[in-house]
Amino acid sequence: MNNQINKLNQDFALSLNIQPDLLPLNYLPKLSLGSASCRLFRGDNAVVLKHLVEQNEEFDFCYIDPPYNTRNKFIYDDLRVSKGHSIWGSHAQWIEFMAERLIPLHKILKKNGIIAISIDDYEQPYLRVLLDKIFGENNFIACIAVCRSKNGKGSKPGISTNHEYVVLYGKSSDSKLVGVREACDASYDKKDIYGHFKVNGLFRKKGDGSRREDRPTMYYPLYFDKQGNVYTENLSGDLKSAYPIDSKGIERRWLWGRDKASQESWKLYASPNGVIYVKNYFTEGKRVKPKSLWIDNRYLTERATNQIKEIFGSKIFDTPKPIDLIEDIIDCCCDNNAKIIDVFAGSGTTAHAAHNLNVRDGGNRTVVLVEQEQKIASSHEAFAFGYKTIADITEDRLKRLSTNDNSFCYEVL
Ligand SMILES: C[S@@+](CC[C@H](N)C(=O)[O-])C[C@H]1O[C@@H](n2cnc3c(N)ncnc32)[C@H](O)[C@@H]1O
Repeated sequence: MNNQINKLNQDFALSLNIQPDLLPLNYLPKLSLGSASCRLFRGDNAVVLKHLVEQNEEFDFCYIDPPYNTRNKFIYDDLRVSKGHSIWGSHAQWIEFMAERLIPLHKILKKNGIIAISIDDYEQPYLRVLLDKIFGENNFIACIAVCRSKNGKGSKPGISTNHEYVVLYGKSSDSKLVGVREACDASYDKKDIYGHFKVNGLFRKKGDGSRREDRPTMYYPLYFDKQGNVYTENLSGDLKSAYPIDSKGIERRWLWGRDKASQESWKLYASPNGVIYVKNYFTEGKRVKPKSLWIDNRYLTERATNQIKEIFGSKIFDTPKPIDLIEDIIDCCCDNNAKIIDVFAGSGTTAHAAHNLNVRDGGNRTVVLVEQEQKIASSHEAFAFGYKTIADITEDRLKRLSTNDNSFCYEVL
């Protein structure tokens, strides 16, 4: 299957006039791959990726935040608009640029690896088509909408856009999200001696095989009191009874047999009108399926800008991501020993986020960053702060991280 995808990717690359195996290596004749837990490669990511493919480096998770093709004048170039009339229209140049990087990124992901890509409305549909081709339509996981500002872009006609996306694909059907840590929030509105719980799952079986005749031994009476406690015997004689009968009067069955229900009746809860639920207890570190809409003040652009000001003393990078957003993406996509790569590193947020997570959960995540040595214009704020290239900014973030915490080690290659 993977060979098939690699062959398709090769054909696809050639159809876009990209020759991934013939990318020039002349200005990085020999690339040392290093061994620190955080490695920064200074240079063009297409070239670095070629080296990583050749050296068979493999990663569990890739996060990238590529230029969105906004036509804005940022610290980096963000104008890749084609004048030609290919089927991709004005998006052809951006697509070629991305395909040249996504094809090797696909190669260096482990079989159960996941890629997450930040993008906005302009290139999101084209990115999806590209990823369908390179990763396979079946390996699409999600397109998460993230609220990035409260008021949106007022300058745009028609609508004030205040969200962007994180598109997730797996390398294969083995690629599974770890899920998000659940907080003990207001939804855990009940409590007993075992802890906080909510009731969101019926004890009556639904769907196929749920009728009484399907499992006759799982149709039996339960008894409950005013406090919601459930019993399999009416020992006191004054309990009410409940049967697995649905709202249409159809006799169904319970989820468990009588013996298990008797031993674990403390896990059951009865509503005042006799609907029986399985208690859903909160446990520390419990993970649940992420939602496709992420709204949190911690994800706002203004938050990322403030973080850049706090770290560097000024807004020396135009389009940073909030650390919390990247922490949550990493935490949701891979385990705490993951090998992570970000080839559009910018101000280095991915390394910062992975380090914060390691400190918090004792993990051993390692990170590879790639950032280009594009010269910074003398008119840019960063230039006034002494940064000559964008990779200088990335490197300085790593230096500051290691100064603040000597458990953070990095290497520049
Ligand atoms: C949107 S920014 C990433 C911001 C980053 N997520 C952060 O939080 O700071 C995209 C970055 O990709 C870098 N970049 C663009 N083309 C590149 C290339 N060919 N090789 C390496 N880096 C590149 C740009 O210089 C820019 O810093």
